[in-house]
This record gives sequence, C-alpha cells and structure tokens, in this order.
Amino acid sequence: MQNFNIGFIGGGNMTRSLIGGLIANGFKHDKISVTDPDNQKRARLATDFGIHTLGNNQQIVATADVLLLAVKPQVMKQVAEDLATAVQQNQPLLISIAAGIRESDLDRWLGGGCAIVRAMPNTPALVGCSATALHANEWVSEQQQEQAESVLRAVGLALWLDSEAQMDSVTALSGSGPAYFLLIMEIMQQAAVTLGLDDRTARLLTLQTAFGTAKMALESNENAATLRQRVTSPGGTTGEAVKVLEDGGLWELFHQALTAARTRSEELAKQLGEK
Ligand SMILES: NC(=O)c1ccc[n+]([C@@H]2O[C@H](COP(=O)([O-])OP(=O)(O)OC[C@H]3O[C@@H](n4cnc5c(N)ncnc54)[C@H](OP(=O)(O)O)[C@@H]3O)[C@@H](O)[C@H]2O)c1
Repeated sequence: MQNFNIGFIGGGNMTRSLIGGLIANGFKHDKISVTDPDNQKRARLATDFGIHTLGNNQQIVATADVLLLAVKPQVMKQVAEDLATAVQQNQPLLISIAAGIRESDLDRWLGGGCAIVRAMPNTPALVGCSATALHANEWVSEQQQEQAESVLRAVGLALWLDSEAQMDSVTALSGSGPAYFLLIMEIMQQAAVTLGLDDRTARLLTLQTAFGTAKMALESNENAATLRQRVTSPGGTTGEAVKVLEDGGLWELFHQALTAARTRSEELAKQLGEK
C-alpha cells in the first residue's frame, strides 16, 4: 500500500477502525497521527497501534499529506474553523467522513479552495466491511483521489459518485441500510420464536442466513431477482412467503422508507451547513 502521512482529527470508533484497516493493509504505523481531547483515548490508540497521538489539532496539519476529519457532524464547523489557517498554509487533502456535511460548507469553514473528499462509510466499517461512497471536489488531484480511495478501502468497499447530490441517496441506502437489515433480522427471529424455535436457534439461523445470502449474492454475477427466482420453486414454501410480503406492500414500503431517509438527509445537511 502507498504510504503518506495521514492525520486523523478525532480518535473515536471510525478512526480506530480505519487505522486498524490501514495497518492490516501494510500502511506504516509511524505515518499515522491522531488528535483527540481525551488523554485516555489517545493513550489506548498509541498502545494498540504504535501511532503518534496529539491533543492539539493545528499541530497535526503541519506534517499531514492527508487529513481525515472524523469528529461528529455537530462539532465539525468549530473544528474546521480552528484548522483553517494551518490548512491554508499546508494544503493537505481533506477527507471528511462526517454524515451530512457538504463539501461547500466545509470548504467555506476552512477558508476556501481546499481539496476535499467527502466519504460516507457505514457502521460495518467497525468490522472491516463498510460500504463507502466517495465524492471529490474540483481541487482534488488524481493522486489525491487514489490516496482517499486507499484509505477508505482499508475498511471495505469504496465507490466514487459522479455528483455530491447523490450522497443523500447513499445515506438513505447504505448509510441507514444496516438498520433496515437489522430490523428484518429482528422480525424474522421473533417470528421464528413464535413458530416454536428457541431464541438461540432463531438468532443463529437468521444471522447465518443473512450473511450467507449476502456472500452468495456478492460472489455471483446474477442480480438479486434472478438469485431469488432460483431459490423459489413453483408451489414451494418460499413462494408462499414472498407472496405474503409482496401482497402486504413491501416494495412500496421500502420505496417510501428510502425516500423519507433521503429527505431527512437533505434537511440535516442544510441545517448543519447553516450553523
Ligand atoms: N460510526 C459509524 O458507523 C459512522 C458511519 C458513517 C459516518 N460516520 C461519521 O464518522 C464521524 C466519527 O464517528 P464516530 O462514530 O467515530 O464518532 P466518535 O466515536 O464519537 O468519535 C469522534 C471523536 O472525536 C473526538 N472529538 C470531539 N471534539 C474534537 C475536537 N475538537 N478535536 C478532535 N477530536 C474531537 C471525540 O471526543 P469526545 O467523545 O470526547 O467528544 C471522539 O473521540 C462522524 O462524523 C460520523 O458522522 C460514522
């Protein structure tokens, strides 16, 4: 893996996952620095990964080719404004993983003209299985795009979007998506218990079915509809269940759910940008 100096602002869950993924992919630990206000969090990161840690955000900018902003969206404006002078002097590539923060708002808070990649990973990043969408603004070079992609690929799949506006749809699909699958798992488990299975059996069979189905679909060249038809024999049990789900309006419900999530994402981005 190509090595460059990377600084993380915020040493929380996502930073820990990304650093774990980078080091597992051959990234050198002495090229990684992290800032976080919490002494204990910094000490744990230093011990676990052998990386540099600092309590001061400005200091990290001087040595970073890539600066990854991994603080909560609510504090991003303050963090960015405090970094603006150092960022203008050193011109690192900025990667923001904060949900709902638009490139133009971040660029304005940082003083303008900054190379920014916006990334939307999802929670399975915590186990190295993220689905991440990326978008680069006009000041990001080809080499910087490669750097950003290599960082996010360390925790799973990373795909580029043509337009930042698609980020709200991505939020509705893969950002919030883990909760949809978890809800379906919860419902299936509970239904199986009412059909007479014990909790443990219902849980393990549900989880392995979800995992195995995703793996099978990922490893196949066929689309989901074809794979589903293949496991649905005429007159069989699966067809009966799918008919109940479709007659009950499942397609329409999911369309409505994703649309509602996208609308909320647009509203939140607007609110965060106005602050
Ligand atoms: N977790 C996910 O699955 C996920 C998925 C997609 C996107 N994201 C995005 O990733 C970002 C980080 O999420 P996370 O789950 O890693 O959050 P987190 O665990 O709360 O990590 C954020 C860290 O930043 C620290 N921090 C707060 N103010 C700071 C400052 N001024 N300078 C430096 N560090 C500061 C926080 O310290 P304190 O705790 O002391 O405040 C915390 O340790 C968020 O913007 C979120 O939207 C997360």
